[in-house]
Amino acid sequence: MQQRAGSPGKGVEMKLIIAAIKPFKLEEVREALTELGVSGLMVTEIKGFGAQAGHTEIYRGAEYEVNFVPKVKLEIVVPSDLADQVVETITKTARTGKIGDGKIFVLDVAQAVRVRTGETNQDAL
Ligand SMILES: Nc1ncnc2c1ncn2[C@@H]1O[C@H](COP(=O)(O)OP(=O)(O)OP(=O)(O)O)[C@@H](O)[C@H]1O
Ligand SMILES: [Mg+2]
Repeated sequence: MQQRAGSPGKGVEMKLIIAAIKPFKLEEVREALTELGVSGLMVTEIKGFGAQAGHTEIYRGAEYEVNFVPKVKLEIVVPSDLADQVVETITKTARTGKIGDGKIFVLDVAQAVRVRTGETNQDAL
């Protein structure tokens, strides 16, 4: 379904994509997303665990025997039309084929505001 800015009630205008990826993939993923037309994103250094909780995972050549492994979390708000391509791009770019490559979640976004101008929703991205 086509989404239009400023048409409340016609579906969710924006999506939030949360992705945990391997830190060394950050720059490559950022470049790919910029090429796709993503206009902004948040980056946080995190630690986490996935399906191998309590087992080992390789990070920068070292085998981690702890529960938590360093990851980078991306938070990206995009027009809903772009969400599938963002997910595909992250999946393709961040994949090494080894365990711990990451995980992606997609959520609905109710509202966005650009502080400087007061623009809202897709205009604020
Ligand atoms: N169910 C979850 N909820 C929230 N965050 C998660 C979840 N699963 C994974 N994560 C986050 O994603 C990071 C990467 O997860 P990871 O790639 O190890 O997932 P996985 O399911 O174990 O897949 P793989 O078998 O490929 O390792 C974790 O370190 C954690 O920060
Ligand atoms: Mg894992």
